[in-house]
Amino acid sequence: MLTHDAALTWIARWDRQQEGYLPDREERFTALIDAVEAMGRPDPLIIDLGCGPGSLSARLLERLPGATVVSADADPLLLGLGQAAYPHLTFVSLDLRTPGWTGSLGLDRPADVAVSTTALHWISGPDLPKMYAELATVLRPGGLLLNGDHLETHDTTPVIAHLERAVQKRETERRFAGHRPEDWRQWWEAVAADPAFAELHTARTTAGADHHGSESPLLSTHVDALLDAGFTEVGCLWQRGDNRLLCAVRA
Ligand SMILES: C[S@@+](CC[C@H](N)C(=O)[O-])C[C@H]1O[C@@H](n2cnc3c(N)ncnc32)[C@H](O)[C@@H]1O
Repeated sequence: MLTHDAALTWIARWDRQQEGYLPDREERFTALIDAVEAMGRPDPLIIDLGCGPGSLSARLLERLPGATVVSADADPLLLGLGQAAYPHLTFVSLDLRTPGWTGSLGLDRPADVAVSTTALHWISGPDLPKMYAELATVLRPGGLLLNGDHLETHDTTPVIAHLERAVQKRETERRFAGHRPEDWRQWWEAVAADPAFAELHTARTTAGADHHGSESPLLSTHVDALLDAGFTEVGCLWQRGDNRLLCAVRA
């Protein structure tokens, strides 16, 4: 049985593990939440796509206590971890590649903003434009998608793409100075070894949530898919190397 305190400790360890790949993770969260705040609504309805254990959702609610956050993910273990740590959040189990996924969100009005961090590169091929097109149906006109992710540009600006990767690498080296946190695999191995996760681990294996398939890392792929889905403006609000906060405005 996973207790509240244990879940918070595991999520703090998740956050450190994610920072090993993204030294500017907290800065990117802050920029994203600044953008939601700048929309000017004290009670925004927010969807967190690929929320994991809810790190971003929890930070959104801390800064914007009047917000409603619906946090969606396909991984039963990460959802269970989030539920144990943040009982005040609404977690929804869904796969963003399954047509009709928005029906599981339980929204009673169009959402003001959809947010996501380090998740949407897992949606690839024809699934990506379909996912964005379906997302557009549940966002209000003028609503935003705010997507923080590594988004590469080697297809259009290869020299700059090389420099972006170099900037990220230097930043990571400076930040951790040879003491990099545990990586993704080590975190999952530690979770698997903790009997408190036995049930959630079985659910994860049964759901096949540890296998993601191909990725869509190109910025151009996301921009094109968003414009095709009816978003009118697409641009970066924040960037460090190839780590970007992409913003798209629904028509
Ligand atoms: C690297 S984690 C990031 C989690 C969280 N957003 C964060 O920043 O800590 C990627 C997340 O995307 C989720 N994900 C990947 N593919 C998905 C899909 N098709 N549908 C829903 N969630 C998905 C994974 O389950 C995982 O929680």
